[in-house]
Amino acid sequence: MSKLSLPPLMPGGFLFGSGPEAVADPLALYTRAQRTLGDVVRLRGIPGINWYLVTHPAGVEHVLKTRGKNYRKPDRFNAPVRMLAGNGILAAEGDTWLQNRRLMQPAFHRQRLAGLVAQMAQAAELAAERWDRLAAEGAVVEVGEEMLRLTLRIVGTTLFSHDLSGEANVLGTAIRTAFQHVSMRMTMPFAPPAWLPTRENRRFAAARDVVHRTVDDMIAERRRSGQERPDLLQMLLDARDAETGARMDDRQVRHEALTLMIAGHETAAASLSWTWHLLSGNPGAAAKLREELDAVLGGRTPGVEDLPRLPYTRAVFDETLRLYPPAWGQPRESVEEDEIGGYRIPARNIVMVSQWVTHRRPDLWDRPDAFVPERFVGAGPGTFPPFAYYPFGGGARQCIGSSFALMEAQVVLATLAQRFELESVPGHEVVPDATFTLRPRNGVRMRIRRRTPSPAAVPA
Ligand code: HEM
Repeated sequence: MSKLSLPPLMPGGFLFGSGPEAVADPLALYTRAQRTLGDVVRLRGIPGINWYLVTHPAGVEHVLKTRGKNYRKPDRFNAPVRMLAGNGILAAEGDTWLQNRRLMQPAFHRQRLAGLVAQMAQAAELAAERWDRLAAEGAVVEVGEEMLRLTLRIVGTTLFSHDLSGEANVLGTAIRTAFQHVSMRMTMPFAPPAWLPTRENRRFAAARDVVHRTVDDMIAERRRSGQERPDLLQMLLDARDAETGARMDDRQVRHEALTLMIAGHETAAASLSWTWHLLSGNPGAAAKLREELDAVLGGRTPGVEDLPRLPYTRAVFDETLRLYPPAWGQPRESVEEDEIGGYRIPARNIVMVSQWVTHRRPDLWDRPDAFVPERFVGAGPGTFPPFAYYPFGGGARQCIGSSFALMEAQVVLATLAQRFELESVPGHEVVPDATFTLRPRNGVRMRIRRRTPSPAAVPA
């Protein structure tokens, strides 16, 4: 294999190569790399340090699935997550990961999750009540903040049966502080080491202690009272390995619960913020969405049985995840030397796959930059080549919460879009910022307007 050549090199600065642009604007860098040099590209940081970008679906499948065991999550990604969520499945490797993933998997099957839809809808109803007040005032809101508040409420109630979204909520506030620190460490490789008593490190340590203590108390209380609740915490406490009967100890339950919060709340909030942004710029799609909602729900709060009857609502979200995938790229580290697309990939190098680039490749997608939910209506396995569309990753490490996220998005959009229209504020430019998740850099500022469903569409 060593006879194969390395992939073509992306030109960059003499001293730091493409390093500075990879930090400042990775989306532009990786898009240009694919457009100019093709499916597998080599990028250089400081002399001697290379990394590789793989964006062709076959190459992505190779890295994430077929040869997935040869590509592990790099420590630079795992270490910050572990600071808060220990060896939870997002950052665990090897046997620990496999054992706990197997324990948790049944809780995330669509049928089990169906029981959580009512909690999702209730949280969306509370958001609607808040928006009613804001609409009456003609308020302009930061939609990113609104969606964070809502998804934190959803994750809090579905996980712990506990509302974390209020400003005064101690756990909610500590979780937000701790998350910010974790995502800062993921995107800033040269952040001061955790043992240095900087202000930021001390703030994080204090927040992490509050989070751990409060979650531990909730677990202990649940065990003590013996009272069962219909939430994910209960599912984690009850989980048994089908073969061995093994279960998680309380510390692991704490870490898995926090893992679900880290992985599930900001990604969901970011994707919903992008949906509102796209709908405001595409009135045709917004009108079609409302037509569907009026016809199927007629102002009602959606229940789990309504979800299959809202295919356009689902397509709007699928298309959002194509254009603005919250997980915009994942780094892996090669264990052994390998070949991808006819090129040599050395051992112990970073290999990056990027949803942002693959999802917008002109050779895979018709009108790649346009918002066309119709392409997802009626789509199923086989509609697109495997790994042309992979917002939830793929292979063994694919997102465990994908069904949760899709249900949540349908419920939130169905509840809010049938009652409100969100209008962009002129002069506020919305720019994607690729940090831990793909978020709008300066938020999405929009005006909330109440709407009345078209009477013709309301079912009798
Ligand atoms: C739109 C929302 C979401 C998106 C786009 C998303 C995307 C992803 C992606 C791409 C991965 C794979 C990462 C990798 O391979 O390195 C992942 C992993 C994961 N996600 Fe999600 N996710 C979302 C929502 C959620 C939710 C709601 C939950 C939990 C309730 C969740 C829990 C997880 C966990 C635990 C993992 C790690 C799985 C493992 O390594 O075994 N995610 N997610």
